[in-house]
Amino acid sequence: MKGLILVTGSEGLVGSRFVELSELKDSLHLPKEVELDITDKSELKAVFRSFDFRAVVHFAAFTDVAKAEEERGDKYGDCWQVNVEGTRNLVEAVKPHKARIHFIQISTDMVFSGSTWDPGAYKEDHSPEKDSNKVSWYGFTKAEAERIVQSTLGASATVLRIIYPVRAKFDKKLDYIRKPLQLYDEGKLYPMFTDQQISISFVDEVSLALDKIIIEGYRGIFHAASRDTTTPHKLLSFCLEKTRGIKNAVKPTTLKEFLQKTEASAQRYPKFGGLRVEETEQKLGMRFSTWKQIVEKLVNQGLG
Ligand SMILES: NC(=O)c1ccc[n+]([C@@H]2O[C@H](COP(=O)([O-])OP(=O)(O)OC[C@H]3O[C@@H](n4cnc5c(N)ncnc54)[C@H](OP(=O)(O)O)[C@@H]3O)[C@@H](O)[C@H]2O)c1
Repeated sequence: MKGLILVTGSEGLVGSRFVELSELKDSLHLPKEVELDITDKSELKAVFRSFDFRAVVHFAAFTDVAKAEEERGDKYGDCWQVNVEGTRNLVEAVKPHKARIHFIQISTDMVFSGSTWDPGAYKEDHSPEKDSNKVSWYGFTKAEAERIVQSTLGASATVLRIIYPVRAKFDKKLDYIRKPLQLYDEGKLYPMFTDQQISISFVDEVSLALDKIIIEGYRGIFHAASRDTTTPHKLLSFCLEKTRGIKNAVKPTTLKEFLQKTEASAQRYPKFGGLRVEETEQKLGMRFSTWKQIVEKLVNQGLG
């Protein structure tokens, strides 16, 4: 297949592993943020003038959920500017070439509320939340970005949602498993929720799904996540057992109790989340691991 693949956010937690593992390594074009700021339309235009892309994989995002919350409602804030306007700029640059360029938006479970009135685990065709008061500000900006992709590029584009991406090693950023493991080693691990429903995404499987999507040209909405859901308490207990040989080391608590004591912003974090993957598995012809299998694979890769 001819043409380059533009990868935004290629130095981040997820994008950098895709770059390591992809079968399409030789076709990837990987500008750093200093070379291509997606909020700068003129930089984007210049890049699209200079290169002949056949696909764009859009990982770049403002991903600090707590910081994003401090910007709630602020459309001049970094979170809105990067996640919404940055995506809009990219999509506008792709639009005239949409028959040739396959645009792939990397998105998140946080576009859904994870609430009692609209609980997960969510299927691929579930509608992202439209009310900003029902989701985190980060989640709302990513939901807006999905809507921009769909309304501008329609059926020519793809959305791939992931949830709590984990990998065995990455020095630049801790993830949903490596952070609590580090806190445990420092004697600072907080009690973990027994009543929150989550799934996790093995970044290696996200990369495999992406390769299939690009190579086969699959369009639509896909999920890359563990085949089953768990709770943070079960997940961390299992990780500590597998990596440290310690059982029953995680103190339990409930999200319900935590939310009674905490400020309003936390109320919008997903309680009954998770992504379902059956349709994606069928369309891509692949099988995702269960959360326990993911932990075992991470341990085999040296998760410490
Ligand atoms: N991490 C999660 O828990 C999670 C969960 C679900 C979905 N996702 C989605 O997965 C994708 C990748 O997430 P991640 O965890 O890999 O993110 P990350 O580690 O925070 O990396 C984000 C990347 O985006 C780049 N970036 C930020 N602003 C930019 C701009 N204005 N122009 C160009 N590049 C910019 C960053 O560059 P610098 O490093 O130079 O700033 C970095 O390379 C995101 O779309 C995110 O929404 C993440």
